[in-house]
Amino acid sequence: MISGAPASGKGTQCELITKKYDLVHVAAGDLLRAEVASGTENGKRAKEFMEKGQLVPNEIVVMMVKDRLSQQDSEEKGWLLDGYPRSQSQATALKSFGFDPDIFILLEVPEEILVERVVGRRLDPVTGKIYHLKYSPPETEEIAARLTQRFDDTEEKVKLRLVTHNSNVEDVLSMYGDITVKLDGSQPKLEVFSQIDSILSELLEKKVAALGPVAA
Ligand code: AP5
Repeated sequence: MISGAPASGKGTQCELITKKYDLVHVAAGDLLRAEVASGTENGKRAKEFMEKGQLVPNEIVVMMVKDRLSQQDSEEKGWLLDGYPRSQSQATALKSFGFDPDIFILLEVPEEILVERVVGRRLDPVTGKIYHLKYSPPETEEIAARLTQRFDDTEEKVKLRLVTHNSNVEDVLSMYGDITVKLDGSQPKLEVFSQIDSILSELLEKKVAALGPVAA
């Protein structure tokens, strides 16, 4: 699991992690934005909360995440959960469905950096890649011309999301104390990734060793 304040770099690190470890990236925010885009009743309701930077009610989010984690690809490859759980009740629900994380990574970034990251963030609707006008600019003019901005990526809205994050983070941490790793997410993205990479490699080695020798 990967967690952190808005724009702490969760999505950016997930892109790098899934590329190397071939995990299924399940991002609660992406699932919700897809629901909003498809115009369903749940999507319309979710958007009201997302606009205010508040948590979308559990009756919408919990089953959405559970269903995605239960799909065959997540079960076969393993999952990387981004932006969930954001409350104790979400963590408890996940556990009751039998989903237990191996590690909980928290990206810590000072607040003054977060606003600049949000305002400069752009998304490529074709590849899904995350850019930043200053820190990760698009590679070509063609990509630059098609970039979009999220409806909640304004200075005003990120401050609301930050208040929500700050009021919930300790509750969530209390559920994963023994498997939590806190990292400085204000470093350049490849430096953050290199730390995550060593943690995951070590974890993987332990898991493989625990399986014992594979029969020829
Ligand atoms: P969500 O989409 O999860 O938004 P968020 O938590 O606010 O996080 P972001 O997606 O904004 O940031 P990120 O950490 O992924 O940063 P990124 O890598 O893009 O949730 C949106 C809303 O949905 C919530 O407000 C809530 O309403 C609802 N929701 C979601 N989950 C929910 C749940 N479980 N329960 C209830 N409601 C829920 O990076 C940001 C920018 O910084 C990019 O431009 C990137 O290029 C740049 N950047 C990244 N890393 C670096 C670096 N190291 N150095 C320089 N720039 C960097």
